[in-house]
Amino acid sequence: MKDKIIKCAFNYIEDLFKNDFGGHDVEHSKRVYQNALLIAKCEPECDLFVVSLAALLHDVDDHKLFHTENNANARAFLESVQLDQNQIDRICELMNGISFSKNRGVRPETLEGKIVQDADRLDAIGAIGIARTFAFGGERKRPLSATVQHFYDKLLLLKDEMNTAEGKRIAEHRHQLMVDFLQELNNEMHINETE
Ligand code: ADP
Ligand code: NI
Repeated sequence: MKDKIIKCAFNYIEDLFKNDFGGHDVEHSKRVYQNALLIAKCEPECDLFVVSLAALLHDVDDHKLFHTENNANARAFLESVQLDQNQIDRICELMNGISFSKNRGVRPETLEGKIVQDADRLDAIGAIGIARTFAFGGERKRPLSATVQHFYDKLLLLKDEMNTAEGKRIAEHRHQLMVDFLQELNNEMHINETE
């Protein structure tokens, strides 16, 4: 039954994000799900069903993409697969607690929230984070030099805000890759000054 609901959640997001490309497409939600499973393996106490659904659905009411109130998309889906109201409330509350901009500096209270927040943040850093950032900058028609600022405003801060041990471990590697990349980028952008 639980496997079937997770399969339905995959189908639901495939359809919902079918016109979105770049940083916020369905592939992002699927990677967050995979990251969440990796972290959850190291956190045996967690409720894997809640982690799975929250990871897959965490952006279905993102205000940048949808004009919904009170997690309307997530609720409609979770009701359609007949989850009970308590569980629906719990998953929605968890998803509302993980957004970076809405909860600056506030950590999720539940283990499941911590896992999904880390999983989402991992997808914002490392090689994939670099790719998403420039895709976003391109979409907004910003030059590379302006887009780079986002690394200093947000992405380089994420490593120290991870909640779980496994999240921290993966973040260290991805963080270093961004540091190395920015160093190289800076060298290449200012090549004429050193020649
Ligand atoms: P999510 O909702 O998945 O946590 P965001 O909506 O904050 O992520 O951002 C989606 C992607 O766009 C991320 O990879 C993020 O780094 C990138 N992004 C967000 N804001 C900017 C910005 N001002 N400049 C460049 N990239 C950005
Ligand atoms: Ni996300």
